[in-house]
Amino acid sequence: MGFPQLRLRRLRSHPVLRRMVRETRLSVDQLIYPLFVRPGSGVRQPIGSMPGQYQLSVDTLVEECRRVQDLGISAVLLFGIPESKDAVGSEAYAEHGIVQRACEAIKRACPDLFVITDVCLCEYTDHGHCGVIVERDGRRDVDNDATLPLLVKEAVSHARAGADMVAPSDMMDGRVGAIRSGLDEAGFAHLPIMAYAAKYASSYYGPFREAAESPPKFGDRRSYQMDPANGDEALREVAADIEEGADLVMVKPAINYLDIIWRVKERFGLPTAAYHVSGEYSMIKAAAANGWLDEKGAVLEATTAIARAGADLILTYFAPRLAEWLR
Ligand code: PBG
Ligand code: ZN
Repeated sequence: MGFPQLRLRRLRSHPVLRRMVRETRLSVDQLIYPLFVRPGSGVRQPIGSMPGQYQLSVDTLVEECRRVQDLGISAVLLFGIPESKDAVGSEAYAEHGIVQRACEAIKRACPDLFVITDVCLCEYTDHGHCGVIVERDGRRDVDNDATLPLLVKEAVSHARAGADMVAPSDMMDGRVGAIRSGLDEAGFAHLPIMAYAAKYASSYYGPFREAAESPPKFGDRRSYQMDPANGDEALREVAADIEEGADLVMVKPAINYLDIIWRVKERFGLPTAAYHVSGEYSMIKAAAANGWLDEKGAVLEATTAIARAGADLILTYFAPRLAEWLR
């Protein structure tokens, strides 16, 4: 009674006005493209559960980096699939390990591309866990403190190979502080750390584990990754990583954890990244392949929602497609 009608819809009445009043604007500058590198040459091995994604050898990886850089992508995240695996993930910190060689090659070919490396052991251990295994009371678990020095060695060797930033994804307690000290001592005090700070034990990593050939051979990751039921605990995880020296913090996965992204950004105000993970990618790809979803619409909606929730940076396998759509 007495209220003018259509007060809110007036702002949506013209496409130009709709664009002008848009609150969240995605930009190609926010995107980080994850890539998988494996030994060999000329390899472009499709990842079955992630249509459009490949395991690449160093040479084809460099080609892919050139291509996505031409699309406007300025940062990549590297995962390595090593020649061989063992109990302590030696290849993760081998001087001529696969990620180390990839960093050197990318920096040579695309010096301006910002290269981030995933620091974890699961791709390099024969048991597929993110740290070394200890048996206590007949139960096998990841040994937190024995894992830390190996992660430090891995981070330092990535830095020596030319990585511009390291991203520890193991979820061991104290790893950010240990890596920070290790980098500082090795002469890399300037190198930033993006911590996978609130990383949940998620079913949505399934396709990634095929891509990285890293499914755990026994048990699961719930003794180190977070329970999806917990939100306050995510803030404690993030606080710990910041205190230990994280420069950027990450929430992972993204869409099921928009509330966590929001709380982390609100509480700490640090540059906050969100990882739109493999399962989130594969779901959209599968539905789109069946004609059940419009891929472009679904991807733009998901990534816009992640940004609206507070993410400054978005890690996504859709990065090259998004770069084209955002042009
Ligand atoms: C390794 C790691 C995983 C992902 C990123 N780093 C898998 C896992 O923890 O099992 C998942 C990425 C994705 O699903 O796209 N610690
Ligand atoms: Zn791992």
